[in-house]
Amino acid sequence: MSQIITELTGVPSTMLLTLRGRADEQLHPHPLFQDPLAVEWSKLLPWDNGLEAIYSKSKLNQISFAVRAYHHDQIASRHIANHSNPVVVELGAGLSTRFHRIGEKSYRWLELDLPVVTELRHKLDTQTQQHQFISASVMDFDWMSAVPDVAPENILFIAEGLLPYFKVNEVQHLVSQMRSRFSGASLVLDILGNYAKVGSKVFSQIGASHQWYVKNEQEVTAMGLHLVNVWSLYQLYPERWPWLVRLVLKLLTQLSYFRNAYLILETKL
Ligand SMILES: C[S@@+](CC[C@H](N)C(=O)[O-])C[C@H]1O[C@@H](n2cnc3c(N)ncnc32)[C@H](O)[C@@H]1O
Repeated sequence: MSQIITELTGVPSTMLLTLRGRADEQLHPHPLFQDPLAVEWSKLLPWDNGLEAIYSKSKLNQISFAVRAYHHDQIASRHIANHSNPVVVELGAGLSTRFHRIGEKSYRWLELDLPVVTELRHKLDTQTQQHQFISASVMDFDWMSAVPDVAPENILFIAEGLLPYFKVNEVQHLVSQMRSRFSGASLVLDILGNYAKVGSKVFSQIGASHQWYVKNEQEVTAMGLHLVNVWSLYQLYPERWPWLVRLVLKLLTQLSYFRNAYLILETKL
């Protein structure tokens, strides 16, 4: 396939960062996961100076993207193994390749993103009855009707790298709508703490400003979500971080300000 021309700017373009992070994970002698599709797709898509400025600002960015993706894989795999009709819905899916990594035994797997991204996916990926693509804004709640009619406990919503781009009242509105429609389903989301503001400028420069920062996970449970698990990204898979970074992270994340810089929350609606 030849190089794909796209109109990606702003927040939709950030999915090229995470795609590249998974592709580059394959260069590591002991990658956390195999992802040949990310390598293939990444080569076909454009890259620019703004994305490069974010990606190469620190070598740790690639590791963070890979660790984050792998941890969501673990959560989704557990969900699939423990439910009879497991449905996974990736909100702001970007060009997630998770279905191809671990989704084979899911009953249904939906990839929701804005039209500009879903059009791209159609060029690269094949929709099937099991694996469907939804072209919509997560804030236009009609997409909820496309979710299969199974008991809510079977549904796992993944909002990986999505919600920090919205304002707090928008996140609250989405959570309330999802709770009223899918009470008992699971929602995995990631949240940025105030320390993350340090790295926010480069995102603003590509028109992808982070808008939602939280002090801790209690601010999220106050929105009506029931907390099942919480992980600090910087404490996950320590073997994947260079030894000195690992040591520094271990010490720093004893302090809540650093621990909460990037949290992954597993919740029930
Ligand atoms: C940082 S990327 C994350 C992509 C993917 N979840 C991953 O981790 O690789 C953010 C994604 O959110 C999507 N997004 C932004 N606003 C959205 C909206 N209103 N509705 C649906 N998706 C949205 C973008 O198009 C982009 O694909």
